[in-house]
Amino acid sequence: MTATLPDFSELRDEFPVLGRTVRDDKPLVYLDSAATAQKPRVVLDAMMDFYEKYNAAVHRGAHQLAEEATTAYEDSRSAVASFVGVEGDEIVWTSGTSAAINTVAYGFANASGVLGASGMPGASGVLGGSGGSAGGLGAGASRFALNEGDEIVITEAEHHSNLVPWQQLAARTGATLKWLGLTDDGRIDISDIEDVITDRTRIVSFAHASNVTGAIAPAEAILDAARAVGAYTVLDACQTVPHMPVNLADLDVDFAAFSAHKMFGPTGVGALFGKRELLEDLPPVFTGGSMVERVTMTDFTCAPPPAKFEAGTQMIAQVIGFAVATRWLSTHGMDAIAAHEAGLVKELLRIQEIPGVRIIGPTDATDRLAVVAFVVDGVHPHDVGQVLDDAGIAVRVGHHCAQPLHRRFNVPATARASASVYTSLSDVQALREALADVRTFFGMDDA
Ligand SMILES: Cc1ncc(COP(=O)(O)O)c(C=O)c1O
Repeated sequence: MTATLPDFSELRDEFPVLGRTVRDDKPLVYLDSAATAQKPRVVLDAMMDFYEKYNAAVHRGAHQLAEEATTAYEDSRSAVASFVGVEGDEIVWTSGTSAAINTVAYGFANASGVLGASGMPGASGVLGGSGGSAGGLGAGASRFALNEGDEIVITEAEHHSNLVPWQQLAARTGATLKWLGLTDDGRIDISDIEDVITDRTRIVSFAHASNVTGAIAPAEAILDAARAVGAYTVLDACQTVPHMPVNLADLDVDFAAFSAHKMFGPTGVGALFGKRELLEDLPPVFTGGSMVERVTMTDFTCAPPPAKFEAGTQMIAQVIGFAVATRWLSTHGMDAIAAHEAGLVKELLRIQEIPGVRIIGPTDATDRLAVVAFVVDGVHPHDVGQVLDDAGIAVRVGHHCAQPLHRRFNVPATARASASVYTSLSDVQALREALADVRTFFGMDDA
């Protein structure tokens, strides 16, 4: 039986790259959107328009181009903020999710006066000055200071971007890193949440959905537990924001991170959301031009957030493209997009009907995104990827920057197919057909 999906077929024409062929003229079947999404023409045009018509550095320019660029830059902030239900001044531009999470983790390290003591070569272990105005850090920074005995909680499903920065923070401050484990079907195990999130927990950071299993986290339960002990919460929302309605104010998280390139915008830009009063107190990581208010030969004071976190000339064209991508998503409607992808999930999960194909993660369609990691018994994921590539099908292979998750399931690597708003049922069908041939190709099943 074929699923009925909201009709997004015409929308494919808006994506120039989807019209191309690959590998001896085969139509491209792009099933790698969880790595990076393709870009609609409106996003590409908006960035080109900036460079062709009003390219200028933002803020403080005394000329019309600078004024136009500044207006577009700040309007973009409001657009991206409203897309996730928050205020413009709570959005900091970063280069992506990794940079956003690092900004928070390094902010805590800076507030703890310990930055450097991580055992990394060259680290002098002396960066501090969190108590007063020295180093531009306000007195409020001390709320983020971590000490030995404090705990940071993550999950076993995290992308390395939401794991390594916290390992580093723990190493620098003497705090302990703890995590919620995974159930056998790849969901976050919250059965022992009261043992993991305790009075000692200062930070709880987790992915809203796994980039490997596609499982959507039980966010409410985790956030409730974190709030009950007064911990700061950090949400890695980069996989959910492009695929379902996400309102950060309703979720009531303290910080959140997402990347434009996964939501049809350009690479090189992403957002850190932080509640206003927290951004006011969080120490900046990068210092220099544009993030300061007053500078003397020996000291400085920070500009108010979000400028405080945006040192140097920013990625203006990308910011503009990012906002256009969010407007484009809103035009199509996140509810309709989620419904389209929910239909695709069901079809994608049918790969488990193919002999030898085993899904890593939930095998049912509830509370999950259209991201499906799998192994083909007896065939290395890289070989699976190559056979699919020969058929014009783009999937990702490897550990998808989530080695602990793969270790949990005793597999070194997986192949991962991920769908998006422009994915069609025929794309998924092409995957199923090509996958059905993989074991035969390697001489494992008779044709
Ligand atoms: C869940 C998750 N977190 C973080 C990241 C890192 O995002 P970026 O590479 O845009 O910084 C990714 C990227 O794949 C991801 O899927």
